[in-house]
Amino acid sequence: MRISVSNASPLRAKVDSHVFAVWSEDIRGRKIASDDLAKIDRDTRGALSAAFARQRFSGKASDQLIATGPGGREVIFLGAGKRRDAKARTWLTLAARAAKAVQGVRGKSLTLSPRAELDETLTRLLAEGAHLGAYHYDEMRGKGTKAKDKPARLAAVTLCASGADIRALTAAVKKGEVIGEALALARDLINGPGNVITPTALAARAKAWCEAGGLQVEVLDKRKLEKMGCGGILAVNRGSAEPPCMIVMRYRPRGAVKGASLALVGKGVTFDTGGISLKPGAKMHLMKADMSGAAAVIAAMGAIGRLGLPINVTGIVPATDNMPDGNAIKPGDVITHLNGKTVEVLNTDAEGRLILADALVHACREFKPTHMLDFATLTGSCVIALGERMAGVMGNDDEFRTRICALGEEAGEDLWPLPLNEDFTAAMKSDVADLANISSEHGAGAEQGGAFLQEFVDGPKWCHLDIAGPFFASTPFGPYRCKGGTGFGVLTALQTAEALAE
Ligand code: BES
Ligand code: MN
Ligand code: ZN
Repeated sequence: MRISVSNASPLRAKVDSHVFAVWSEDIRGRKIASDDLAKIDRDTRGALSAAFARQRFSGKASDQLIATGPGGREVIFLGAGKRRDAKARTWLTLAARAAKAVQGVRGKSLTLSPRAELDETLTRLLAEGAHLGAYHYDEMRGKGTKAKDKPARLAAVTLCASGADIRALTAAVKKGEVIGEALALARDLINGPGNVITPTALAARAKAWCEAGGLQVEVLDKRKLEKMGCGGILAVNRGSAEPPCMIVMRYRPRGAVKGASLALVGKGVTFDTGGISLKPGAKMHLMKADMSGAAAVIAAMGAIGRLGLPINVTGIVPATDNMPDGNAIKPGDVITHLNGKTVEVLNTDAEGRLILADALVHACREFKPTHMLDFATLTGSCVIALGERMAGVMGNDDEFRTRICALGEEAGEDLWPLPLNEDFTAAMKSDVADLANISSEHGAGAEQGGAFLQEFVDGPKWCHLDIAGPFFASTPFGPYRCKGGTGFGVLTALQTAEALAE
């Protein structure tokens, strides 16, 4: 999809549809209260004012009106709520609704007039939103699928910003396009089935995307993991026919800031059956998406390279599936991690923390980042605590955790803090080894997972983002998160890299 910015009059553009935002502030007492909107209304033969009069439209964020404009082209008015309450998700939603509305009538091009003063941030959010709204997963449709049975593809979006500095906004649009592309990649990886997105395939996709963005990618194979002593990844992989790997993505730009460096770690369980502690069958297919943390990290790394952010960033993805088998690890088995700590595996379904432990140790030892984030679909407990739209954030530094939650919100992702303290750490003790991978204490499963991971973090300020809620939308979470993989985490990772680069 091509996105551009223009300050020409939108109704003159040769496109399939024109979309206009209508803010609550534009309407006073069932009358149009802004001059430019009044003119648009005249140009569409009063469609909007007629709808006001009949109370069909009030500028509420759920209102939508379709009218006929000059040349018989479609004009869509989208209620956008109160302009002064608008936040990141307002802009993402607006552009995604525009894309969806036009795609819905099989249109290929549109102008979007947000009717607000655009700065670089808002422009970028609109570009991202258009990409997210237009996204469809269709990698798995058969070759014989007819074009008419496939969802329409939006080809061109023009953001209309009258009186703006088009040059500056064009740069912002380019950023939005890169991020939109990254989010689509993350979603494709997440929606990809377990028999296609194997650890090896995940590594190949990471290599292609990241190398094209100027990164160096190294894939540590099973032999290498054995030599290193990555006992967690190897243990989870024991039951599998697919070899594991650890994907290491290095971004080392010229002129990187001196004071900060970032590591991004993502859980890459390409399918989680639970292993010998087998999961129940209902909804098990969703566990193809248990590599959503990995997808977010891979997508963000390639985007960081393309955006040219001036900061050293390393992405690390431990990848394997978790299968039951004669060779699989069993409850009670004891394993040894990369840093020498031993873990009693009391439940083979708490596998994410086992593979992440080695990855966190590797990140701290080899790259000595000042800051580290991990993204993982770690616990059902986090979903009980916070629901399906929010990620839980734990960490070893309260100030950094608060900052990450704020950065996430600025980027359009909802994050909420969860506690970590020495009681949660104590709960992860084992009778026979240094740690157990589950606790016998009731409740706080997300925090117990976080406390376990903390035992493998040495050096950086670190946050653990449990994305088991928002990784996947089982029903559409609104226009910019359609059904399926969401790519949650990409935006927070990018916002963090940008903030640390300053
Ligand atoms: N991948 C799951 C967590 C999960 C569940 C993510 C639902 C997304 C949706 C994870 O590996 C897991 O099985 N966790 C267990 C941990 C427990 C055994 C301590 C869980 O949450 O039940
Ligand atoms: Mn599991
Ligand atoms: Zn899992």
